[in-house]
Amino acid sequence: MLLKNQVALITGSGRGIGRAIAHLFAKEGAAVFLTARTEKELAAVAKEISDGGGRPEYATADLTQEAACAHVVATTREKFGRIDILVNNAGHYGPVVPVEEYPLAEFDKVIAVHLRAAFLLSKLALPEMYERGSGVILNISSLSAKAAYAWGSAYAAAKAGMLGLTRVTAAEGARKGVRVNAICPGPVTETQMSKELGAVLAKKMGVSAEEQLAGFLNGLLQGRAQTADEIARAALFLCSEQSTAMTGQSINVDGGVAFY
Ligand SMILES: NC(=O)c1ccc[n+]([C@@H]2O[C@H](COP(=O)([O-])OP(=O)(O)OC[C@H]3O[C@@H](n4cnc5c(N)ncnc54)[C@H](OP(=O)(O)O)[C@@H]3O)[C@@H](O)[C@H]2O)c1
Repeated sequence: MLLKNQVALITGSGRGIGRAIAHLFAKEGAAVFLTARTEKELAAVAKEISDGGGRPEYATADLTQEAACAHVVATTREKFGRIDILVNNAGHYGPVVPVEEYPLAEFDKVIAVHLRAAFLLSKLALPEMYERGSGVILNISSLSAKAAYAWGSAYAAAKAGMLGLTRVTAAEGARKGVRVNAICPGPVTETQMSKELGAVLAKKMGVSAEEQLAGFLNGLLQGRAQTADEIARAALFLCSEQSTAMTGQSINVDGGVAFY
C-alpha cells in the first residue's frame, strides 16, 4: 500500500474527481477526510469507503468562506490527529460568458473556491507539515490554465493562479520536507461539472451535446476523455513516495493537448 498510515484531506470529495481520489487513497491505506457542501454526497462516499474497509470522516463546508477552511483543517486534526496530504480539488466552473459580461461577484466566487481556498488550506496545513518535516500538497488545476478557451475567464485565471501558488509553496517547502505539485486534467466528461459545461457550450454553439463533445475530444492526441480514476492515479503518484524528487511541477493528464 502506497499511503499506509497517511492522513489525507481531500476537498470536493463528494463526487467526481475528488471522490475517485478519496477511494484510491483509502484503498492505498490512507485515512481520508472528505469535504464539500452537500452532506448527502459526502455521507454516501464515506459509506462506500468504510464498507470497503477504509477510514473516512467528513464535514460539510463552503470553502469560499475563510472560517469554513479553518473548520475543515481543525476537524481533520481532531478526527485523525494530523494532515500528511492536502488535495485542493473543490471547485465549480462558473458562468460561461465572455469577459465583458462576466459578473464580478461570480468572478470572485470562482477565484475563492479554487485559488483562495487552496491558499488558505495550504496556509493552515503547512506549519504542522514543517514542524514534522514532511507533507504533500496537490493542487488540482486544469488544462484551462495552459490552453485558451473562450467564456471561462475566472476559471482559467484561478487555475493558472493555482500553478503560481504551487511553485511558490514548493519553493518555500522544498527544504522543509514538503512537496507541492499540481495536476492539469483535460476533459473528465463523467463529472457533473463537465457535463453541465458541455451542455451550456453546446447550446451556445448551436450544436448537439454529442457534436460539441466530439469536436473537443478530436483536438486531443488520444481523441478521448480522461476518467476520474486516471486523474486519481496521477494524484496517487504525486502524493506518495513514488515521486519523492518531484516538487513545483504541473503534470498534464489530458490525453495530449498541452505540452509544457
Ligand atoms: N471534469 C473536468 O473535466 C475537469 C478538468 C480539469 C479540472 N477539473 C477540476 O477538478 C476538480 C473537480 O471537478 P469535477 O469535475 O470532479 O467536478 P464535480 O463532480 O462537480 O465535483 C466538484 C466538487 O467540488 C465541490 N465544491 C464545489 N464548490 C464548492 C465549495 N464552494 N465549497 C466546497 N466544496 C465545493 C462539490 O461539492 P458541493 O457542490 O457539494 O460543494 C464537489 O464535491 C475541480 O477543481 C475542477 O475544476 C475538472
